[in-house]
Amino acid sequence: MTKTIISVVGARPNFMKVGPLERQFKDFPDINHMIVHTGQHYDDLMSGVFFDDLGLSAPARHLGVGSGRHGEMTGKVMIEFEKVCLDIKPELVIVVGDVNSTIAAALVARKLFIPVAHVEAGLRSFDETMPEEWNRRLTDCLSNLLYVSEPAGMKNLEREGIQMTGALLVGDIMLETLSMFLPGIESRRRWVDFNLTPKNYVLVTIHRPSNVDERDALEQVIEILESLPQKVIFPIHPRTRKRLDEFGLTERVNRMKNLLLVEPQAYIDFLSLLEGCSIILSDSGSVQAEASFFDVPCLVCRENTERPVYCEQGSCRLVGRDPKLTKKSVEEALAGKFPRSTDYVKNLGRDVAKKITVSIHDFLK
Ligand code: UD1
Repeated sequence: MTKTIISVVGARPNFMKVGPLERQFKDFPDINHMIVHTGQHYDDLMSGVFFDDLGLSAPARHLGVGSGRHGEMTGKVMIEFEKVCLDIKPELVIVVGDVNSTIAAALVARKLFIPVAHVEAGLRSFDETMPEEWNRRLTDCLSNLLYVSEPAGMKNLEREGIQMTGALLVGDIMLETLSMFLPGIESRRRWVDFNLTPKNYVLVTIHRPSNVDERDALEQVIEILESLPQKVIFPIHPRTRKRLDEFGLTERVNRMKNLLLVEPQAYIDFLSLLEGCSIILSDSGSVQAEASFFDVPCLVCRENTERPVYCEQGSCRLVGRDPKLTKKSVEEALAGKFPRSTDYVKNLGRDVAKKITVSIHDFLK
């Protein structure tokens, strides 16, 4: 009998995580895999281009929830996703990452007695001011199957008393996606489109509420950008753009001669810029993995990370918004004295989707 599995995606970092799963499920003729898009991210540059780049099938359903406050967004996803589950009656729901769509879909499925699999389980920043931290913890409580990306995740789950029979250390699926698209990334040379020279520019992505939602914090970020010794390219997230406008800081940023403010980049384009840059300054989670894969020095503009493996074995360092530490790290990186990624990190993306799909197939037998 064919079994239906729904993978739920909502926001930009989710799309890359289902690519390898969709491909791998094709090996199982008794599984009907479909994608449901909550619509948490809706701009073409935050969503549509990723489906194109990753060759993902069009979502079977689009819930069209859009943006809003946390409760509103989570609530809307729950209302709409419950209707989809009652209609499609899937045998299992896969949720990925830690965005509001992740927790909303997991809660709906579990209350309808539909088993839940969480890809990227166990990650913890231990920072309770981060909305994602609650999404991570609560989604793991609700999940029957927990696919963990790095060793710290297994320890976190154990400490929280989660039923470990459902937990499996599989590696980081973002790195598997990256490996799948590596030839396209390596030939893309996106820097040419912006007149940049490889290893002669800094790439920046900053969008976390802790860095952009308060004026003082955002000004500190701008000061750091002003201090960088090379050209800077900054694909700007809609949240950051809005805050710059709200705080009247857009003019100041536009005046920076060394800064190129550009639209959010598609998947292959962004990774091409990452491969070509000398340093990346970022507060993103997944970028820590991707930078480590390419062995590009990554200054993480956060006080903590839920992905410690990329600071321990990768090319990442937490710098917060500390100007001195950032300056010192930039100097080290440009002098070739920054910590290099180990092979352990480079191998974390091997056969991740295979391990997950085989385990789900066994579970549903
Ligand atoms: C969300 C995730 C975050 C992830 C990030 C990646 C949560 C709690 N946060 O944060 O973990 O790193 O996505 O991008 O789920 N907006 C647009 N167009 C869009 C999407 C958003 O203009 O396509 C605007 C919204 O109007 C909103 C702002 O950007 O004001 C923030 O969007 P939101 O989805 O609330 O959170 P992110 O900051 O994107």
